[in-house]
Amino acid sequence: MNDVLIRTPLTELTGVRHPIVQTGMGWVAGPRLVSAAADAGALGILASATMSADRLRSAVREVKSRTDAPFGVNLRADAGDAAERVRIIVDEGVKVASFALAPSRELIARLKDAGVVVIPSVGARRHAEKVAAWGADAVVVQGGEGGGHTGSVATSVLLPQVADAVDIPVIAAGGFRDGRGLVAALAFGAAGIAMGTRFLLTSDSPVPDAVKARYLAAAVQDVTVTTKVDGLPHRMLRTELVDALERSGRAASLLRAVRHAAAFRRESGMSWARMLRDGRTMKHGKELSWSQVLLAANTPMLLKASMVEGRTDLGVMAAGQVAGLIDDLPSCAELVDRVMAEAHATLHALSGT
Ligand SMILES: Cc1cc2nc3c(=O)[nH]c(=O)nc-3n(C[C@H](O)[C@H](O)[C@H](O)COP(=O)(O)O)c2cc1C
Repeated sequence: MNDVLIRTPLTELTGVRHPIVQTGMGWVAGPRLVSAAADAGALGILASATMSADRLRSAVREVKSRTDAPFGVNLRADAGDAAERVRIIVDEGVKVASFALAPSRELIARLKDAGVVVIPSVGARRHAEKVAAWGADAVVVQGGEGGGHTGSVATSVLLPQVADAVDIPVIAAGGFRDGRGLVAALAFGAAGIAMGTRFLLTSDSPVPDAVKARYLAAAVQDVTVTTKVDGLPHRMLRTELVDALERSGRAASLLRAVRHAAAFRRESGMSWARMLRDGRTMKHGKELSWSQVLLAANTPMLLKASMVEGRTDLGVMAAGQVAGLIDDLPSCAELVDRVMAEAHATLHALSGT
């Protein structure tokens, strides 16, 4: 194991060895990837939005059986069963709760009272200010080049803006893959980096080989943003399916959404009543129509088709622009060691020592 250590507020807060986070990616960040990342000294985060609550509990136990290192769980603050998931996190002694959308003040307080470190992900300064005022311990800030749901402001602009606005640790996401990026993020005022696409492309990631091969073959220009999957800007590999979605009309989109909602209900163990309640929560305070709420089920099902079933023709492959720069599949241990060694060399080169 690499003995380069860079202590930051992130390593202090969470007890991880290195200021690197492996983000919670639906269907990808399961027990195998998370325990490998945690063992490598990064903060591994389990993606729970695509798991039933029972599956979450067993996944958490599986990670604990594989590693003693701290790890986290990513959840949707607006899920109808968020309280049950929080109970699992607390009961099982999970170190970090990460949120895709801003959690409520009450949820943050509940987790903090139980000693859990709360780290929401944000894509705008005002969201960072809000969760900081509510007591969040740190924030992940994702720039527009990042994979999955994403904003339009680049990391190089958003990160210093957020770092100047809040006085909790800020973790930079969107576009990172190496030690130069880590040093650049630290220079911008971050306490570490969070990487999605880079950890997806490791030998520890459970994604089928054929899917990994599509990512490795992609150039930067092959990564695009579409709103046609679920109505929100979503960064992914450009494929024939994505082109077809871009061309398809409203009726076809809705039909697909209904099919996916039915499949997601079966997968997640949710009742229709709970899905409707969740839908109402999603709509609340936002300008969303029921058709947009239904579209939300597209993402997990289309992601599953590729990430689990290996169907690059039927599924979507969420990806950051950085996919265009990645051409190997190291293990998590090799990746983290490499990033830390590069960061160390970069710092020395910059300081002339
Ligand atoms: C395949 C994939 C699935 C993702 N799923 C989720 C998710 O379920 N929840 C979430 O908060 N973010 C999700 N993301 C976003 C990542 O957590 C992370 O913020 C992003 O990948 C960072 O940008 P990068 O890909 O440039 O490293 C996903 C990203 C990818 C590539």
